[in-house]
Formats: sequence, C-alpha cells, structure tokens
Amino acid sequence: MKQSTRQASPGVSMQLAGATSDAARHEELESRVRDRTAQLERSNRDLHLAKVAAEAANRAKSEFLSNMSHELRTPLNAIIGFGQLLNGPAALPDQAAREREFVAHIVKAGRHLLTLIDEILNLAQIEAGKLKLSLEPVDLDDMLADCHAMMGPLADKRHVRLLFPAPSRSTVRADRTRLRQVLLNLLSNAVKYNREHGSIVVDIARMTPERLRVRVHDSGLGLRPEQMASLFQPFNRLGQEAGKQEGTGIGLVLTRQLVELMGGSLGVSSVPGVGSTFWVELRTEDGCDGGHRAGGERDA
Ligand SMILES: Nc1ncnc2c1ncn2[C@@H]1O[C@H](COP(=O)(O)OP(=O)(O)OP(=O)(O)O)[C@@H](O)[C@H]1O
Ligand SMILES: [Mg+2]
Repeated sequence: MKQSTRQASPGVSMQLAGATSDAARHEELESRVRDRTAQLERSNRDLHLAKVAAEAANRAKSEFLSNMSHELRTPLNAIIGFGQLLNGPAALPDQAAREREFVAHIVKAGRHLLTLIDEILNLAQIEAGKLKLSLEPVDLDDMLADCHAMMGPLADKRHVRLLFPAPSRSTVRADRTRLRQVLLNLLSNAVKYNREHGSIVVDIARMTPERLRVRVHDSGLGLRPEQMASLFQPFNRLGQEAGKQEGTGIGLVLTRQLVELMGGSLGVSSVPGVGSTFWVELRTEDGCDGGHRAGGERDA
C-alpha cells in the first residue's frame, strides 16, 4: 500500500485520500446509527416499562372502583329495602316497634354511607394532589389529651382501658386536623379490634432528635402474616366483614396517605392473639431534648 502510494501520480494519491476520508465518514455515520439505535432501544424499553406500570395502575383503579360500587350498594340497598317496608301496607300488629327498628337501620346505613363517601372523597383528593395540608408545630400533649377525651366513651363501652403517656413537652410538625384524624383512626381500630376488658397503651418514643413515634399498643386480636400483607388494601376488612365491628375498610389506607403527606411514616407490628402496635413517625419541632422520656414509656 505504502509502495503504491509512493509510485502513484498526484491524481491517484488524491483519489486514495478521498477514499480514506469517505471510509472515515462512513465509519462515523455507522457509529452514529449504532448510538441512535441503542438510544431507540432504551426508549422502547422505558416505554414498555411505563406501559406495564400504567396497565397495573389501571387494573388497580378498576378493582378499586368495582369494590367501591359494591361497598356503596350494600348500605344503599338497606336504606331502600327498609324504606320500602315502611311504605308498605301497615298489617303487622306491632307495627310501631317494627317501624322504629327499620328507621334505626336506615339511619345506621345512611351514616355508614356518609363516612364511606367522605373517606373516598378524601382519598380522591389526595390522589389528585388537591388535599391541602397546613403543616405547623403541633403540641403533642394537647393533641393526645384531645384524643384521649374523644376515645373515652367508645373505650368505656367496650370495657377497654386507655393508658396515655404523661406530658412529654413534645412538638411535632403536622397538620393539626389531619393528625387528630390519623390518631383517632388508629385508636378507634385499637378499641374496635380489642377484646372485652382489654387495654390500649399510647406512648412516645424519640427515634432521633428530629423524629419521634407515637405508638398505639393494643391487647387485641393481632394480625396474621397474610393479614399484614393485605392491611393497606382499600375495602379489605381482613375477615371482619361478618364481625360486630362496623367499618368501611378504608381507614388505614387514608391514615397512611395522610401521614406520608405530613412527611412522616406509618408502621405496624403484630402478634396474633397477643396484640398489635401501630405507630406514626413524625418530625419534631422542639429541638433536641433527645433524652427526655415521658413516664411509663418503652423504647422502640
Ligand atoms: N389494631 C388492630 N388490631 C387488629 N386488626 C386490625 C387493627 N387495625 C385494623 N385491623 C384490621 O384491618 C382492617 C382494616 O382496617 P381499617 O381501619 O382500614 O378499616 P376498618 O376499621 O375495617 O374500617 P374504617 O374504614 O371504618 O376504619 C380492619 O377491618 C381489621 O380487620
Ligand atoms: Mg378502622
């Protein structure tokens, strides 16, 4: 090759130089095509993954909607059914007593429907990013005292003992109304799924100077591992559908979403037949009295 270049005329030499730069251009083009093909393949893979995720989300949404229509239909059927009975011919001898009973069923079904619709609307607002929270320093002692007072009657009715911590002078960053909703949800579960004459212990555990947990320990039924796995599925009441305790099966889903919107987290540990502990972890606002513990608390 070298030899032929040396012997070749200037014209031939120019042709050879032209051929070399053609080859380089060709090589560069090929490399660009290869890069572009690799890029397209990556985009295709990403698109495929996005499509699979969108399909899964769509399936979850359809399942949610079909569960929701079932849940809405049950109390509505009770309202319509008892309403029709009240509207029928008054042939029964003890009609007045029966009517009172039917009206009580109608009111109960109506209330259930209202709770359900409120919770679904809350969830929908969260999903649409429309639920506005106002995060501010919230005094935990005041908040727990409020919750204690509100839960008292329900706990008394079920003969469940409520034990709250001594004042801890803790402040958390939260939305006051939503934090109350979260704690009441956990406390009402702890009462509802407790045993008669059981107990509930609420305590505060400082995880780091910046984060603390409010823990609700109950001496209730506890949850089996397979129940734990389905705990946050909307409308899944984990076998309590046939039980005496009323509920919509959406409380915990909403509770977890609210806690996360406040920058916190929610967790649970449970021993079947012994009890469960549900906790909410939030950011503190009160600096670093990290060693402070309220009386009767246990560590996480
Ligand atoms: N502390 C607990 N101990 C045992 N089981 C519990 C406890 N908390 C919740 N569960 C179980 O988890 C299910 C879902 O709880 P969740 O609070 O979401 O719904 P719910 O109490 O049935 O209805 P609601 O939406 O009215 O709160 C309950 O039906 C119950 O079976
Ligand atoms: Mg509940």
